[in-house]
Amino acid sequence: MKILVIHGPNLNVLGKRNPSIYGGKSLGEINKLIEKKAKELGFEVEIFQSNFEGDIVEKIHSAIDLEYHGIIINPAAFSHYSIAIRDAIEILEIPVIEVHLSNVFAREDFRSKSVIAPVCSGQITGLGLNSYLVAMDALKLMIK
Ligand code: DQA
Repeated sequence: MKILVIHGPNLNVLGKRNPSIYGGKSLGEINKLIEKKAKELGFEVEIFQSNFEGDIVEKIHSAIDLEYHGIIINPAAFSHYSIAIRDAIEILEIPVIEVHLSNVFAREDFRSKSVIAPVCSGQITGLGLNSYLVAMDALKLMIK
């Protein structure tokens, strides 16, 4: 089984970016933990990060034909306004889980709205890097 993990804009600078909100680990360190968890669950995992909306849309399109069984996406700021990413996810028939490191409901009002969430299977928010790991457990249960 193969899953795709997508990290959106500004997540490439994790570790240096508001550590009190996002934690002190770099994206590389988080990706290592994702890879370790994938091994434990028997998943093959591909990890993709981009600061560009169109690149993320095209990566999601690649899941129309490629054999991914599920996607975990932290759309970062795009969560709150990207109809293009929302529409791309809506095309897919595999489970897609939206994740956030921080609790988006406990922050500025604009973060409590996700235009992505309604086209995802579910959303996990506020658990730090564990949001990704819990989403992987959920995919394991969801993928037949
Ligand atoms: C985030 C929350 C978003 O509101 C923010 O724009 C991010 C990161 C999170 O993981 O907590 O870039 O998606």
